[in-house]
Amino acid sequence: MTTLGTPLSPSALRVMLLGAGELGKEVLIALQRLGVETIAVDRYENAPGQQVAHHARTITMSDPDQLRALIETEKPDLVVPEIEAIATPVLEALEAAGVVKVIPTARATRLTMDREGIRRLAAETLGLPTSPYQFCNALDELQAAIDNGIGYPCIVKPVMSSSGKGQSRIDNPSDVQKAWDYAMAGGRVSHGRVIVEGFIDFDYEITLLTVRARSADGTITTHFCEPIGHRQEAGDYVESWQPQPMSPAALERAQHIALTVTQNLGGQGLFGVELFVKGDQVWFSEVSPRPHDTGLVTLATQWQSEFELHARAILGLPVNTALRSPGASAVIYGGMDAAGVVFEGVDQALAVPQTDIRLFGKPESFVKRRMGVALAYDTQIDTARERARLAASRVTVKKG
Ligand SMILES: Nc1ncnc2c1ncn2[C@@H]1O[C@H](COP(=O)(O)OP(=O)(O)OP(=O)(O)O)[C@@H](O)[C@H]1O
Ligand SMILES: [Mg+2]
Repeated sequence: MTTLGTPLSPSALRVMLLGAGELGKEVLIALQRLGVETIAVDRYENAPGQQVAHHARTITMSDPDQLRALIETEKPDLVVPEIEAIATPVLEALEAAGVVKVIPTARATRLTMDREGIRRLAAETLGLPTSPYQFCNALDELQAAIDNGIGYPCIVKPVMSSSGKGQSRIDNPSDVQKAWDYAMAGGRVSHGRVIVEGFIDFDYEITLLTVRARSADGTITTHFCEPIGHRQEAGDYVESWQPQPMSPAALERAQHIALTVTQNLGGQGLFGVELFVKGDQVWFSEVSPRPHDTGLVTLATQWQSEFELHARAILGLPVNTALRSPGASAVIYGGMDAAGVVFEGVDQALAVPQTDIRLFGKPESFVKRRMGVALAYDTQIDTARERARLAASRVTVKKG
């Protein structure tokens, strides 16, 4: 049974978000609606989620001492990682000592914090289909991996990076050096290790939002949202839609893969399982043990968005993953490097029928920083996609 308390009182249920970007902000709003006391942690001040939480804390989350000190001071009931670059050994130690509960589990956050833990688990331990891959620590190892089986085309990614940073495609031998240098410059923590993956010539790719939530009888049940289709540019999501039409066989395989990997990771919460699909064939790509950026579309398409689902699941409450309407999302980029920007044309954007907008409130804009998202719903996915793109294009970012 779940008991919720009163925020800012001794009975409060306290939840700490590690990472307070646009995804964390929506999780925090969902928690606020249930009277949960929230602590938003980020590496810079006035991060989106910090603006809607009871408490804002700014630390370097990859620093074990800072992270341990903060958790021990704040004593949250739940710690909810929203980003990958966290000192996960500290979370494992505190969870083992019974100091906190980590969502979904400390082990899951460690295994998914870089590409190696989760890829080896999925492919080698669980035997799930993935692209062929090798891990390499040097340029000559990369060349050898390509020559000895991975082949061309292939994709090189820093072991620790997200949103396509440091990632590039290699089509022939003359690209190898460039891809290596790019990966070294783009890795989040430069430990000089990359994964090289054979290129999967997929028809489409999906995110399968998968929720592990407690049922009335206390057991954990797995629930699937309708598949989300998305389009990536340079490894970063630019638009998504739901549902992505799939053959029954492909959907069944996708759900089987998602069930297998999330069951192993365990705990409670929502996962974003990324899959490539060609015909009836499905490959596992990666998984986030938390809401997924492409799942922003669920703010317009589901009765309970992925953020509400995550909040409910981690609190031990029932979930409903049903679709309300097909719909789409389109990213609004900063388009410039500047602090305190203004957004023009929001009125024009919202004049597009059946649309909505989220502006994340990030203190600083960068050319390729995601500053907001346009959402649209319609019975026709193509119409929803057009409207989301149109609405996003009408918002222009200007210097403040
Ligand atoms: N082996 C592959 N074959 C074909 N396309 C790929 C492959 N690996 C990655 N991609 C493409 O690049 C995109 C980004 O890759 P991936 O998800 O591994 O990187 P990421 O930096 O973790 O992205 P994010 O954190 O935004 O999910 C994928 O969604 C897919 O479009
Ligand atoms: Mg990805």
